[in-house]
Amino acid sequence: MTYQTFEHDVIVIGAGGAGLRAAIEAAVQGASVGIVCKSLLGKAHTVMAEGGVAAAMGNVDLRDNWQVHFRDTMRGGKMMNNWRMAQIHAQESPARVNELEAWGAVFDRTKDGKILQRNFGGHRFPRLAHVGDRTGLEIIRTLQDHAIHKKNLEVYMECTITHLLKEGNQICGAFGYRRTTGEFLFFKTKAVILATGGIGKSFRINSNSWEYTGDGQALAYKAGADLIDMEFVQFHPTGMVWPLSVKGTLVTEGVRGEGGILKNSKGERFMFRYVPDMFKGEFAETEDEAKRWLAGDKSSRRPPELLTRDVVAKAITAEVKAGRGSPHGGVFLDIASQRDAETIKKKLPSMYHQFKELANVDITKEPMEIGPTCHYIMGGIRVDAETAAATVPGLYAAGESAAGLHGANRLGGNSLSDLLVFGRRAGLAAAQYSKDHGQRTMDHGPKAQQIEECEKQLLKPFEQRNGENPYAVMEELQKVMEANVGIVREEKELQKALDHLAQLKIRAKNVKADGDRTYNPGWQTCLDLENMLIVSEAITRGALERKESRGGHTRIDYPESSAEEAQSNNIIRKKGDAMQVTREPLPKMPPDLEALILSS
Ligand code: FUM
Repeated sequence: MTYQTFEHDVIVIGAGGAGLRAAIEAAVQGASVGIVCKSLLGKAHTVMAEGGVAAAMGNVDLRDNWQVHFRDTMRGGKMMNNWRMAQIHAQESPARVNELEAWGAVFDRTKDGKILQRNFGGHRFPRLAHVGDRTGLEIIRTLQDHAIHKKNLEVYMECTITHLLKEGNQICGAFGYRRTTGEFLFFKTKAVILATGGIGKSFRINSNSWEYTGDGQALAYKAGADLIDMEFVQFHPTGMVWPLSVKGTLVTEGVRGEGGILKNSKGERFMFRYVPDMFKGEFAETEDEAKRWLAGDKSSRRPPELLTRDVVAKAITAEVKAGRGSPHGGVFLDIASQRDAETIKKKLPSMYHQFKELANVDITKEPMEIGPTCHYIMGGIRVDAETAAATVPGLYAAGESAAGLHGANRLGGNSLSDLLVFGRRAGLAAAQYSKDHGQRTMDHGPKAQQIEECEKQLLKPFEQRNGENPYAVMEELQKVMEANVGIVREEKELQKALDHLAQLKIRAKNVKADGDRTYNPGWQTCLDLENMLIVSEAITRGALERKESRGGHTRIDYPESSAEEAQSNNIIRKKGDAMQVTREPLPKMPPDLEALILSS
């Protein structure tokens, strides 16, 4: 069999914000870097973080600082966050945003020329630096422009990595294929950074782009690394529900940040009824108070539409279930009654066009119909807070594929700052590791037999004479996850999902591809299925194990949060062919940081 071979000190898998920021940093440290991405460069799910990047710069409200950002992130994550990651993130985000500006990102401005910041759910003060509702796009554009000018950085577009290779317990390579030609590729390397994003394609209704098949999480798992807290999946409260062809497409939280309100079919502004005890006192209790806040009265409390995403998504689900939903099974999001048309078009240009083009709705005049959509996974690859190192030597992870920062629920805008802060740290540490420890892997490399095994696995779908269509298996997987492991879960349904996933695993081994390897989406889907099934099983097993409701994990059979359950992370590990879940205590937080969270 033939394959092309490439050699780099550091291979970054994924070219969204985390991958690009990691690659830039590793290149700055002098490492030779290869960045491998499934799509064309610049086409990454990072663009779907539309409303802004969270950083306590205090440009709009001087009361903001890293301590408040830390507190909001921990409270938003329902205290399941890795405290050290939350601290580093809150402290370093402003520097990372300023750095982007220096690299050419054009943020919206305050009247006195500072970077403008807007409100978002769970953030106490206006904190999201933004570019209208296209912030992720501007970040990708800026990072991409910066990266391609690094001489020691090579980009491999439209390539998928299917295997990580090890020498002993140490990472020494990655194997995959070029999507356009089907050629096999072997990357010999000293360190790998996983920055592949999330898992949304395992759910039928999602905001994610096609690349999000859980590749990084599955690659890490198969290489022996730990995953943690996979049960915490975020359903963004506002996805389009109509027309069906675009169901799930994100409607930015920026709409609510700019004053948009949620109403049910009876015209009630229902979120006032759903403020959890933990947040009582922080949110407006009447429409009058919410209106004063919108008019800029800083002594008024925020409207309840700016509660955290887990709370808003569950409230919408409850309204629909109670028969107070919109005609297409969502609720109404109304900005038209709160802001004039010119402001809406200026602040939310993409939303204006999205609804006009896709749904024939003019959001400056009519409300939008919206409902929850699978958007993000808080769980993922277990990493060290300082270095982003996974639990396998030579392996690093950053961005959505890594876990810890967001705990049980992520605050909007914290994903963009996450990928900047920890992307940089991963690049730094991987470059250092490649200098200190990588030579042994370069000298020995993987055994020929390892590569032969990879090739054999990739070609298997062409050998299945009577195999099944991979799309049928994928569709069933998405339905199983939506029906049994969605926003609201319970033991018997989770168990049903596990049984169903076991059958789907058998069927996935028999899927077949027709034709040849040249751009063949059917074959590529056969190969994606393994990863989708691994992450789906990990989510389901984590959800079964966690017997409480917390953030992005709601059990109707355990509707309350449990102080005892919250003491530990769920650790997912590969044991032979089986997936094992164990519990480990959360790292202990220093008292001075604990005091910050308790402060009002
Ligand atoms: O709603 C949004 O603009 C999404 C932002 C995020 O997920 O951070």
